[in-house]
Amino acid sequence: MSAAQSERRVRASEYMHWAKTSSRARFNLATSGLENLKLDELQVSLADLEITGETGYGYPPRRNLLAERFRVEAASVVTAAGTSFANHLALAALINPGDEILFESPAYEPMLATAEYLGASVKRFHRRFEDGFAISPAEIERNLSPLTRLVVITNFHNPSGVLTNNQTLKELGELAQQNKARVLVDEVYLEMLFAESPETAFHLGEQFVVTGSLTKAFGLSGLRCGWILAEQQLAERIWRLNDLFAATPVHAGERLSVIALKHLPAIAERAQSKLDKHRLLLNQFLDGRDELEAIRPAFGSIMFPRVKGQSSERLCDLLRTKYELSVVPGKFFELPAHFRIGMGGDSETFTEGLDRLGQALNDLR
Ligand SMILES: Cc1ncc(COP(=O)(O)O)c(C=O)c1O
Repeated sequence: MSAAQSERRVRASEYMHWAKTSSRARFNLATSGLENLKLDELQVSLADLEITGETGYGYPPRRNLLAERFRVEAASVVTAAGTSFANHLALAALINPGDEILFESPAYEPMLATAEYLGASVKRFHRRFEDGFAISPAEIERNLSPLTRLVVITNFHNPSGVLTNNQTLKELGELAQQNKARVLVDEVYLEMLFAESPETAFHLGEQFVVTGSLTKAFGLSGLRCGWILAEQQLAERIWRLNDLFAATPVHAGERLSVIALKHLPAIAERAQSKLDKHRLLLNQFLDGRDELEAIRPAFGSIMFPRVKGQSSERLCDLLRTKYELSVVPGKFFELPAHFRIGMGGDSETFTEGLDRLGQALNDLR
């Protein structure tokens, strides 16, 4: 890498910085996950929080529970601090500086920034509002080159919340395989289908590498319980790479993750009924707002409406200054006409938030 290239190297995420420093508001509809659970909801005793244990290449009970959950060998499971670090590890294992990769657009910017930080030559393929933000295998095929080593997507898609079906994933897998490329699928939102044994893209072929965590669907961001599923040789390489990054995790966190994994069905039930209720409210709200157009997924916690004919910036500013409400401005997802709205917060905040959003839209009429 030349000095000039090194100078330009991405070393930060604009979105993550905004999320940590500027996204909070009295009515916060900017978060994409379920409201955070409290420790006492996991029924944990102090003895459960032992700080030392067998944790070399993953705490076996945690690795085994994840293997069982996804119907894979434990040797295919790598554990990591949240989907964020799972993505970083997977990308770092799959990318050599200068490798061409194909990344969806709009994208979850911290993941894109990580690929850029790792020196990938990033090409983009578009998921268009007009096509319901669906992935088009034909568009991917047009953008693949003999140099493409990796295709990266999120499922559900962040920011639109749109689910990619298995047929499309299979077509994508075939294209990648013909090209000797891999497919990285961030499945953190797929957990919001709340299946006891989730249908992960991992099973569609060895070219698939998937990441996920308990963060979004279960309100367990604080546990940083993330994972990568990869074919066994790659999983082994990722573990060895992790020795350079994180060596070993916080053992008490591993133990808490095991407890959480055993409690998932009860946590899922509450989360799902909340999201169903809030999605209905948001759909009713959108029915009455001519100035917004939106793809409306049947699952998940996020939608990405567009303000007809203008940027969402004025709306986002007004929401913040006059209505103490935050949503994520579309500029963070490369589509400034849009804004992302999250449905996973508490019901009072969500209902009042929608009311305030309506008032702000009236102001702009
Ligand atoms: C697509 C995607 N991946 C990963 C993450 C981060 O997940 P975690 O908190 O488990 O690191 C987010 C959070 O917004 C996300 O939207």
